[in-house]
Amino acid sequence: MTRQHKILVVFGTRPEAIKLFPVIAALRADPRFHPVVCVSAQHRGMLDQVLEIAGIVPDYDLDLMKPDQTLDGLTSALLNEVGRVMDTEHPDRVMVQGDTATAMVGALAAYYRKIPVDHVEAGLRSGDIYQPWPEEVNRKIIGAMASLHFAPTQTAAEALMRENVDPGRVHVTGNTVIDALHWVTARIAENPALVSGLADLEARFANKRIIGVTSHRRENFGDGLEHIAEAVRQIAAREDVAVIFPVHPNPNVRKVMNKALAGLDNVALIEPLDYPHFSRLLAICDIMLTDSGGVQEEAPALGKPVLVMRETTERPEGVEAGTAKLVGTETARIVTEIFTLLDDKAAYEAMAQAHNPFGDGHSARRIVELLAHEIGSEA
Ligand code: UD1
Ligand code: UDP
Repeated sequence: MTRQHKILVVFGTRPEAIKLFPVIAALRADPRFHPVVCVSAQHRGMLDQVLEIAGIVPDYDLDLMKPDQTLDGLTSALLNEVGRVMDTEHPDRVMVQGDTATAMVGALAAYYRKIPVDHVEAGLRSGDIYQPWPEEVNRKIIGAMASLHFAPTQTAAEALMRENVDPGRVHVTGNTVIDALHWVTARIAENPALVSGLADLEARFANKRIIGVTSHRRENFGDGLEHIAEAVRQIAAREDVAVIFPVHPNPNVRKVMNKALAGLDNVALIEPLDYPHFSRLLAICDIMLTDSGGVQEEAPALGKPVLVMRETTERPEGVEAGTAKLVGTETARIVTEIFTLLDDKAAYEAMAQAHNPFGDGHSARRIVELLAHEIGSEA
């Protein structure tokens, strides 16, 4: 038997954990690989929710999260700590996902050691370095160093090639978030108790149209979040509407949302939901209103219209298909767009088309086969 290749998988936040657990499972199931998991814990509670559901016990947990952490504080702490793990483990390859500080620094530390970097969810570009901020540039930095680029869509692959990445190193794999969504849907079908935590809210809002809301983007801190909060307040003033809003624990988000929305009858401000419960929210809502990246991929897959509180997106596929719409962060625009979807059946139906340009649920398997091909050609 050929030797096992050690893949150090480095991640730190909720979305990375959701999008990497299917890949870690596929690596574990393949005797050609020995995955070693290092979490920075850039997120703590939200990361742990995913690790628990997915049954992942990290080999290294750097426990780096600080309350209201700054980008420079986080980035500098990450570089030393992640580098130390690489010097202990001497992996054959390092895998990172997406665009977070952990992913960018994980790739950089690997590059400093000339360890090949594999980038899952490569090539997303908005074309604006401040939106999403700092993720657009994090992704470009990783792209400059990566060995294999696993692009979720053809659009993402083309963006990489426009940046002169060798087309032979770019592979369209689909997005592993769809693997994760399929997996969690199957777990819930086996064990409906996994989503029983929403039963009380479902009963309380049984006769209402449900709007699911999430918001956390750094570029929206300040005025943007204030405008979003005011929009939610105006939307929830309607008798026929209820808002379920799992609030990101970032203090910049919490203080604004609590001040504007706590105590309103038709608004449930709740703690972040674990992945099964969030997928249940996606299933029971009529509309998602969000500035999240991942939710832009999941909601179209489930046929839920998604209004995106951003000026631009690095995930244009949903917008092009008509299942997602960019609505910015101005209060009046958000309220008008939500009311149009609530009141105009044709407008709603036009957006509520199940559409899934982001993957077929087999992306993790594809990624592992491409890696196997790569190590085979190295041998
Ligand atoms: C980070 C990612 C962003 C991703 C987002 C997902 C970067 C640069 N950005 O955002 O791409 O969309 O995570 O949520 O890496 N906190 C907790 N508990 C948690 C998680 C966060 O209390 O489990 C609080 C802490 O006070 C923490 C703050 O939230 O300091 C911000 O966390 P951070 O990872 O820095 O968030 P972002 O950079 O905004
Ligand atoms: N999510 C979750 N619980 C929540 C909110 C979101 O499990 O309360 C999931 C969601 O399904 C998606 C991911 O978290 O897969 C998105 O994470 P987030 O919005 O924090 O980051 P982004 O995708 O914007 O980077």
